[in-house]
Amino acid sequence: MKKQHALCSLAAVAIGIFLMQCSSAPSESKKENVTAEAKPFYGGFASAELYGEHLVTICACNDCHTPKKMTDHGPEPDSSLWLSGHPASMPAPAVDRTDMAERGLAVTDFLTAWVGPWGTTYAPNITGDETGIGMWSEQQFINCIREGKLKGLSRPLLPPMPWQFYKAMTDEELKAIFAYLKSTKPIKNIAPAYEPPTMN
Ligand code: HEC
Repeated sequence: MKKQHALCSLAAVAIGIFLMQCSSAPSESKKENVTAEAKPFYGGFASAELYGEHLVTICACNDCHTPKKMTDHGPEPDSSLWLSGHPASMPAPAVDRTDMAERGLAVTDFLTAWVGPWGTTYAPNITGDETGIGMWSEQQFINCIREGKLKGLSRPLLPPMPWQFYKAMTDEELKAIFAYLKSTKPIKNIAPAYEPPTMN
């Protein structure tokens, strides 16, 4: 009788353990699912800023928005002027603008000022400084790239800013780029204003 009692309690313990496992397993996996859904992906990068930095690199924003410095192996983006646009102190490109408008395109060695049939455009400062995009809202930036508007609210963006291609970016990509630009070293610089084409 005593032996039977011992067997019964052993079985009860076993059933108890089994039930505990059953009841803990589903809630555990539910918790994991919730965490996986809530965690932002950032293209596989650890933060929005790092994802944005990656996108800015592969989209070559520096090609036009960063002044260059000459090295032994040709011009390179000047890391001290990262994304700060055409320097305000730099003179306008020394070309015959009427002739250039008829014959094609001219660009400075910094690749920051462009002369063509649309006039002269200067790549603006897009650092986190207030003279860049520091005071912009995220929505302003999204409108700028999606609708091709200066500061996201005024005149249409002119060549060679390739917004027509960048507008295909997802909201996540645009938000990541904006987060990165906001986090860049603030550099004070107001690029010269756009000059319309000269009249013939
Ligand atoms: C081929 C050259 C070129 C490339 C590449 C380029 N831009 Fe631009 N961008 C310009 C020029 C030039 C302007 C000014 C156009 C104008 O005045 O209409 C401009 C304007 C802008 C503006 C508007 C700034 C303002 O003050 O309203 C933003 C924002 C911008 N670019 C962000 C970017 C980002 C982000 C990238 C990369 C994803 C990029 N650009 C790549 C040339 C370029």
